[in-house]
Amino acid sequence: MTTVVVVGSGIAGLTAALHAHEAGCRVTVVTKGALPDTNTRWAQGGIAAVTDPADTVASHAADTITAGAGLNDSDAVEVLVGEGPARIAELVDRGVGFDRTADGDFSRGLEAAHAVARVLHAGGDATGAAIQAALGEAVRAEGIPVQEHALLRDLIVERGRVTGIELADGDRLTADAVVLATGGAGQLYAHTTNPLGATGDGIAAAIRAGAAVADLEFVQFHPTALAVGTPFLVSEAVRGEGAVLIDDAGRRFAFDAHPDGELAPRDVVARANARAMAAQDGHPVRLDATALGAERLARRFPTIDAAVRERGLDWAHEPIPVTPAAHYLMGGVVTDLDGRTTVPGLYAVGETARTGVHGANRLASNSLLEGAVFGARAGDAVARDRDWPIPPVAPARPVPVAVDTAAEAFSRAALQRLMWDDAGLVRDASGLDRAAATLAAWRAAGLLPSVEDDNLLLVATHVVDAARARTASVGAHHRSDAAEPASLSAPPEVLAC
Ligand code: SIN
Repeated sequence: MTTVVVVGSGIAGLTAALHAHEAGCRVTVVTKGALPDTNTRWAQGGIAAVTDPADTVASHAADTITAGAGLNDSDAVEVLVGEGPARIAELVDRGVGFDRTADGDFSRGLEAAHAVARVLHAGGDATGAAIQAALGEAVRAEGIPVQEHALLRDLIVERGRVTGIELADGDRLTADAVVLATGGAGQLYAHTTNPLGATGDGIAAAIRAGAAVADLEFVQFHPTALAVGTPFLVSEAVRGEGAVLIDDAGRRFAFDAHPDGELAPRDVVARANARAMAAQDGHPVRLDATALGAERLARRFPTIDAAVRERGLDWAHEPIPVTPAAHYLMGGVVTDLDGRTTVPGLYAVGETARTGVHGANRLASNSLLEGAVFGARAGDAVARDRDWPIPPVAPARPVPVAVDTAAEAFSRAALQRLMWDDAGLVRDASGLDRAAATLAAWRAAGLLPSVEDDNLLLVATHVVDAARARTASVGAHHRSDAAEPASLSAPPEVLAC
């Protein structure tokens, strides 16, 4: 019987675990918090999929590729949108109660850069929580062992093959296959919508094990995180329902950047917000949702409504301050369409993986779908894999780095500031070179306070290297020193470790 360790317990990890278990594998889930402490739990807007007879997978694919600036892997997009409806049906079977209209059909939300309303939601804006709860219950009901509060230290590699994992407390679990589903690395940045656990653990472990990573320069910044208190995501669905962005003068500025205004692709709106903030001495821009009215805001967005009110704001009557914040990593560990990485025995799924499905910028609400679709495929693949077709990887093109010998001492906050200032929404060569030199100094200094800091520093180094190598602006990677319009030319396709 094939033994499988799945690291991570969000939608991608638990879907992979359930599929591998149902295919006859002996599966253990390992997660560094409690089972439900995942990024998935915080997902608000919903899960995009074609469930309306008036919608088509071709339309969903076209929207995905437009948002991704055309850099998407077309096979991965076909798989995502083509298998999406089946995975939605599976989630319903596993107990996810998506919101319905009075006649029993799915209630579908509109989000930025979607041609039609196709985003399913649950509990209004608590979609991730509903999915997390249903999958968690399914895993428990199946008797799949879950090892909680177990932080991945490293992958065990023997004769070029992954044969298990080592935990931070020294415990070792052996397995025929390891599936990394540890999410992204939002904690690289001073402002993020991600929870504290998003420290790139799986990506860093894969890099140390020799796996190829790619597209790490594509960091998605969400346009609207609440700018009061701890950053808190204000879903794109709020703009989809009609809320608008205004500057200090009360002017709608999003149409200056794109004809679709507030519903333009996410990277465009995030940069428009950043530009408007820079023009008003850094004051947050404001999201005006007052036209929606108190009753609709509370009913459709109960989670956001509570977070807004906890911060002493009344969004039914006044625009609320919002700011861009790091949200999602399009790049990650290179995989094929079944989650196989370049290291035999190692799979990656969800935000940890780079299938190429998102190109340079992910379409809203495609991330939960990615977790469900590619999690299922990887779970099925581990059960049947005997040979290891390695995804093709182009050679790395390292960019030389000078070490900044005068860099301040490492701290998590210093790393997050550095990445925000020099490798954030808008980059240029001098900022990226400065960031690379500081990161090199921190790496040279050795021992860091924690495994997670170590992981963040390694992932940061790869993000900055990738951003230095891609000298043109495209999608979420925007360089102020690149010629406009954005060019898609000459990226290093894959950065090996
Ligand atoms: C949102 O609700 O705006 C976020 C959903 C996503 O990241 O796709």
